[in-house]
Amino acid sequence: MRKDFLPFSKPSVSETAIADVCDSIRSGWLAMGPKTVDFEKKFAGYVGAKFAISVNSATAGLHLAVMAVTEPGDEVITTPMTFASTVNAIIYSNAVPILADIDPVTFNIDPKKIEEKITAKTKAIIPVHFAGRPCDMDAIEKIAAKYNLAIIEDSAHALGASYHGRKIGAGKGARHIAVFSFHPTKNITTGEGGMITTDDEKAADQMSVQRQNGMDKGAWNRFGAKGKSHYDIFRPGLKYQMMDIQAAIGRDQLKYLEQFNSRRTAIVERYNDAFADIKGLTVPAPIETNCVHSWHIYTPLIESDELGFTRDEFMEKMKAYNIGTAYHYQALHLFSAYARITGLKKGDMPVSELIGEKIVSLPLFPAMSDQDVADVIEAVKNVCK
Ligand SMILES: Cc1ncc(COP(=O)(O)O)c(C=O)c1O
Repeated sequence: MRKDFLPFSKPSVSETAIADVCDSIRSGWLAMGPKTVDFEKKFAGYVGAKFAISVNSATAGLHLAVMAVTEPGDEVITTPMTFASTVNAIIYSNAVPILADIDPVTFNIDPKKIEEKITAKTKAIIPVHFAGRPCDMDAIEKIAAKYNLAIIEDSAHALGASYHGRKIGAGKGARHIAVFSFHPTKNITTGEGGMITTDDEKAADQMSVQRQNGMDKGAWNRFGAKGKSHYDIFRPGLKYQMMDIQAAIGRDQLKYLEQFNSRRTAIVERYNDAFADIKGLTVPAPIETNCVHSWHIYTPLIESDELGFTRDEFMEKMKAYNIGTAYHYQALHLFSAYARITGLKKGDMPVSELIGEKIVSLPLFPAMSDQDVADVIEAVKNVCK
């Protein structure tokens, strides 16, 4: 058994990024500034969007995006198989979260279930590309066009993924926005941080202004050598900017993204091969044609009927082998706050509930050595024997 604990995720930050962070600190310009602007430009170029707006988390980005496309009281349809941020962003925009169940194979929102939930109040859909697997965007875009709805792609897991030849986050016109996360477990990190991308100029303007308390000019434009310190407030905003200290890491991380994602994919392939004949462990479904998965997390299902133990027991058993695992996600409406807010109860979202009982995340990060991967495989095989 391995001596040290293998976490389920760990970021890889280069010495160049660390030096660039120190450079920002020494320069005296720590907050949003030239490195943030540079990172935004590079990010927009990478995904193929006109606008990239950096923020201090994807949660903040989702909040700005929902505010940009809804009015208080509007309904927004999303998935129960997501992190709380997706729904919190709707609630804090004074909109109403409506959950639609997932597809049992992809774990992504089921377009048929979306259509069943549409009312006269529906204004937007937030599909979440779960684990980095692109949602069925053709079907979702068709529904959005039919009912005149905005789309916010929660792309927290999906940096580097692509759908039918287009990168997730590529610009798609009015009221279509994507939001990425740079939390340390994500495909690239800035510590905390996020990025919004869109081709919608009006929404981009509103979100850029609202992320800096509503000021029409950021501090960089006011306190720099050529700046003017007066500003106007267009609309009340929030304090959601990214700092140059974070962007210094982000712009370096972006250079490694493709390499990181290739390593993630190679590890997933080894897992899939090794686990193919374990009865009671269902590996993720094959990737859809003409799509690229970004493999943010690797999430097999623990079939307790066949294995004789539950997912939680599996996680404990893996810990005994010094291997960390994680849980993404309990179906959202089963948390007490969202049960209260949505009025949903156990039995209302059967697919998410079932997947939520079985799902587990195994270690997956680019710095895993071949020995780390072999240790995970050996532990899983022993546990499931
Ligand atoms: C699907 C999803 N959406 C949004 C978020 C929020 O990201 P952040 O931590 O950057 O706010 C996460 C974070 O884990 C997530 O998994």
